[in-house]
Amino acid sequence: METVVSGIRSTGNLHLGNYYGAIQNFVKMQHEYNCFFFIADLHSLTTHPTPANLHNNVKTVLVEYLATGIDPEQATIYMQSDVPETSELYLYLNMNAYLGELERSTSFKDKVRAQPENVNAGLLTYPVLMTADILLHRATKVPVGKDQEQHLEMARTFGNRFNRLYNHDYFPEPYAFSFSKNLVKIPGLDGKGKMGKSEGEGNAIFLSDSPEAIRKKVMRAVTDSGPATENQTKPEEIQNLFDLMKVVSTPDTIMHFDELYNKMQIRYGDLKKQLAEDVIIATTPIRERINDIANNAEYLRKVAQQGAEKARESASKTIKEVREIIGFRSF
Ligand code: TRP
Repeated sequence: METVVSGIRSTGNLHLGNYYGAIQNFVKMQHEYNCFFFIADLHSLTTHPTPANLHNNVKTVLVEYLATGIDPEQATIYMQSDVPETSELYLYLNMNAYLGELERSTSFKDKVRAQPENVNAGLLTYPVLMTADILLHRATKVPVGKDQEQHLEMARTFGNRFNRLYNHDYFPEPYAFSFSKNLVKIPGLDGKGKMGKSEGEGNAIFLSDSPEAIRKKVMRAVTDSGPATENQTKPEEIQNLFDLMKVVSTPDTIMHFDELYNKMQIRYGDLKKQLAEDVIIATTPIRERINDIANNAEYLRKVAQQGAEKARESASKTIKEVREIIGFRSF
């Protein structure tokens, strides 16, 4: 069975875009591949979180992934910092990652622009740590989006370089992979682009949002002054609301509002009310599981422990072999 590795940014609450995009694919993937999903808490240190924030973010992400259906009996879900072999492999790989190529990475240049007061070495070697995450389990498939393509290319470069340096065909090449061909894109509520938490207040609906919060956000979604002719093409902000309906509403509901739009009889207030209720129906079971799991310290402890054990089993095997290849041999 092929091995899949994916790192999850530990930056807070999941929204509908995460859920209908990546996470539903993770949930399906876990039955077909040997999956390792980990929370990238070491990576998050590049931004210097406070201990309390770090812990809360990691907990939120763990709880929400479990609530959406990542099954610790199917996939290995772990905290990156619980697997010290990650850091060891990172150190080895750093020895043949070069300053020039690291400085040229797009994500590094973006970070330098975003936080010029904190250009630390961890930021520079972020792709090396990511490579260690992947090669640690000798994974070949990495379910990430376009924005991570350059990092994966670097992972292949570093893995191949290791293989060449030690004249050992050890690490396989990891490639980005999308489990389902037509990834669902969830638009935000601000009338343009996709849902994202950095796109501004009210643009994203979080899985943990209360029904009241959901109603408020949906009612405030950007619309226009209504169709000017019959059967006209919908402008982006209106199409976005219909696209959201596609994932949470019944085909009948969508057809109903589509017809009203085409006949120029639509009342956006009615559409939004319906959309809000359908979002609430879709998210309520998840929100309830989030609350249950967040209050179940014993379950969380068990999941974390079991995940760390499974991850370390695979990781320690790799590290043992890597040490041998490098020449750290016992007397
Ligand atoms: N860099 C990835 C992101 O920003 C997170 C990540 C860290 C990752 N290590 C990884 C993804 C290993 C896949 C594999 O989303």
